[in-house]
Amino acid sequence: MRAVSIRRFGDPDGLAVIDAAAPVPGRGQVLIATEAIGVGGVDVVIRRGDLAAYGFREGHVPGGEVAGTVTAVGGGVDPSWVGRRVWAATGTGGGYAEQAVAPVDDLCPLPADLPAVASVALGSAGIVAHFGLAHAHLAAGESVLVRGAAGSIGIMTVQLAVLARAGAVAVTTASPERGRRLRELGATHTLDRSGGGEDSPAGFDVIIDVVAGGAMPSFFDRLNPNGRLVVVGAVGGQPPDNFGTSMMAAFQRSLSFATFSSATVPGSLRQAVRSRQFAAAARGELHTVVHEILPLAHAAQAHRKMDAGEVFGRIVLTP
Ligand SMILES: NC(=O)c1ccc[n+]([C@@H]2O[C@H](COP(=O)([O-])OP(=O)(O)OC[C@H]3O[C@@H](n4cnc5c(N)ncnc54)[C@H](OP(=O)(O)O)[C@@H]3O)[C@@H](O)[C@H]2O)c1
Repeated sequence: MRAVSIRRFGDPDGLAVIDAAAPVPGRGQVLIATEAIGVGGVDVVIRRGDLAAYGFREGHVPGGEVAGTVTAVGGGVDPSWVGRRVWAATGTGGGYAEQAVAPVDDLCPLPADLPAVASVALGSAGIVAHFGLAHAHLAAGESVLVRGAAGSIGIMTVQLAVLARAGAVAVTTASPERGRRLRELGATHTLDRSGGGEDSPAGFDVIIDVVAGGAMPSFFDRLNPNGRLVVVGAVGGQPPDNFGTSMMAAFQRSLSFATFSSATVPGSLRQAVRSRQFAAAARGELHTVVHEILPLAHAAQAHRKMDAGEVFGRIVLTP
């Protein structure tokens, strides 16, 4: 089968189409003939070699999210999965391929009227958005800022905050065009990356932060008393070592800081919420944003676009 692997860490030219043996599903796993493969931000970080310390090696096949049809099952898996169209989390790799294995615990059947391409813009991002807002204890009427809203996590967070009847839903984006599109999805205020902007609210009850990075502590100043900042991603890198100092300096405002990873949500809960979100997307109540669909063999082009920061939503590869 064809797959794309990281022949050498660094720029996207290090990605190569290879001929690989089809994976064999192990116990608790299924084999999927892929129809759609999501290109995630973490794939880019792995390709650059930034996660080599965590065991990622050259030769790795990236891709953590696919949709397609189950063609075989491993031991202990109900054979009735064979032939079903599903969304699947493949973990930290293996997705950029014509066939991929995934744990049966992380499968979600696709509603008939939800395209595979749309599902990989929602499957993992929607879970981070839903449980990230829950982790921040967002209540109706409260104001939210989504920092780094132009990716699939931010796009879903904006929509879910609107559905939760947040009082205001502000976003940061570097692009007026992406800001316009986020407003179409329900954002009420568009701020620049520093949090400035003509109609920037003074404070927020909740900040969902996809960016982190050096500027993160400056956003503590934008929290209302009892405000909560929850980091769900780090596309801007690590925050400064001493970021806690800013929190302590604001002691009398009772601020909270938290990180949130969907890995801490029990699989059954993830699946229940994901099924509901897929059904909502199929009914048109949640909008999935696919930036572009490219052939699997053009994975390097997809990564160049990611590197250039021009992607709104998800790039999806098709085998
Ligand atoms: N918590 C979890 O369970 C979980 C699960 C999966 C992934 N993740 C994490 O989520 C992140 C990816 O999310 P995503 O795909 O939604 O994001 P993304 O598309 O990679 O980035 C979101 C937006 O952030 C802005 N941005 C990028 N670099 C920035 C910088 N240096 N400073 C300020 N803004 C910047 C860009 O918008 P503008 O150019 O318009 O500003 C970009 O569109 C990764 O860190 C990944 O590890 C977390």
